[in-house]
Amino acid sequence: MDSSGWTRVIRNAGVAGGAGGAVSGLVSPGAVAIAGQHIAWAGPDAELPDRPPAGCKVVDANGALLTPGLIDCHTHLVWAGSRHREFELRLTGASYADIAQAGGGIISTVTATRAASEGELLVLAMKRAAQLMAEGVTTIEIKSGYGLDLTNELKLLRVARAVGERLSVTVRTTLLAAHAIPPEYGSRSDDYIRCVCDEILPAAAAAGLADAVDAFCETIAFTPAQIERVFTRARELGLAVKLHAEQLSNQHGAALAAKFAALSADHLEHVDEAGVRAMAAAGTVAVLLPAAFYFLRETQLPPIGLLRTHRVPIAIASDLNPGSAPIASLLLNMNMACTLFGMTPEEAFAGVTRHAAAALGLGATHGTIEAGKTADLVLWNAEHPAELAAQFGMVRPVTVLRGGKDLP
Ligand code: NIG
Ligand code: FE
Repeated sequence: MDSSGWTRVIRNAGVAGGAGGAVSGLVSPGAVAIAGQHIAWAGPDAELPDRPPAGCKVVDANGALLTPGLIDCHTHLVWAGSRHREFELRLTGASYADIAQAGGGIISTVTATRAASEGELLVLAMKRAAQLMAEGVTTIEIKSGYGLDLTNELKLLRVARAVGERLSVTVRTTLLAAHAIPPEYGSRSDDYIRCVCDEILPAAAAAGLADAVDAFCETIAFTPAQIERVFTRARELGLAVKLHAEQLSNQHGAALAAKFAALSADHLEHVDEAGVRAMAAAGTVAVLLPAAFYFLRETQLPPIGLLRTHRVPIAIASDLNPGSAPIASLLLNMNMACTLFGMTPEEAFAGVTRHAAAALGLGATHGTIEAGKTADLVLWNAEHPAELAAQFGMVRPVTVLRGGKDLP
């Protein structure tokens, strides 16, 4: 092994999330060597060369757990206003769909978000991103979707990009203009979809503001036929697609997403076997969002057994948003993936690392500890990756490296 370019070695660690990916493949004592921004080598501690090259910093992890930086692959963290009143309404019997149909829900956040300046939104978004980062998150996907017109959707995407410039975190932006029908369109949803396809998508693409395009396929949002128009335009513009699918009912959105080779289909509580099969064939990641299930007090569980049977990769994300998931914790989502959805801690761990990277199209560079990948790494006050999901509020990062550099 050529160790000449190594800048840092972390040794005597419990290294999880390596090439094999399984927690059972935890390498302990293990070691990771970093050269600049990238991982240069990972393996058993005993295989390290006797002497590191001159100038290479050597850190003894004392048996602590070392994982890839966590990846929150589904958030809506740019918003203004508060939806606490809706929480109260739901506790007295109103459903999420009832509230949306009465003009509340997403639209109430759109009103508050349109009224907020870019600077105000950036302050709010940075606070939320910082909360995720405090738990070892080094990559965050951020969706628009509370602007719902050209000016405001681009405003949200610029704020999302700015979060990645101001904080030491990798941000992937997703244009979610097809999130709800804007109030000024009344029930003219087809007209709004035309605006999304003809104006908002091309402008976001031309400005380089969107890494992907998402939409909400649901009775209270858009039909599969409308989503198909959005996806067709996105693909013409060379943008990857993903979809909020089967959250409240089965609209066959997962199969539609698969037809467009979507990076992911998200939520999926109501997906059927045909949808799961289509996702498996297309390599579309299932992004499950336990906080939204919990917070809306849903009862229909996502079909974990079917996803396992058909070997669909499962990612876990926070869905951080003001309405269905105002919970800024990816670790709590890992815990809920186990307690509520019946996933194993090992699956939850893969869900916020390798599979989350795949859901963002970052599988080649992020999500595992392998030579050549970006050196986004977290050292924890824990020894086993299952601890990340098996408790809450006690496990925390001791050191976070992003691109080989210590987080300030
Ligand atoms: O992922 N399902 C649609 N969108 C969000 C909720 C947005 C909101 O209620 O503000 C979600 O749950
Ligand atoms: Fe969402």
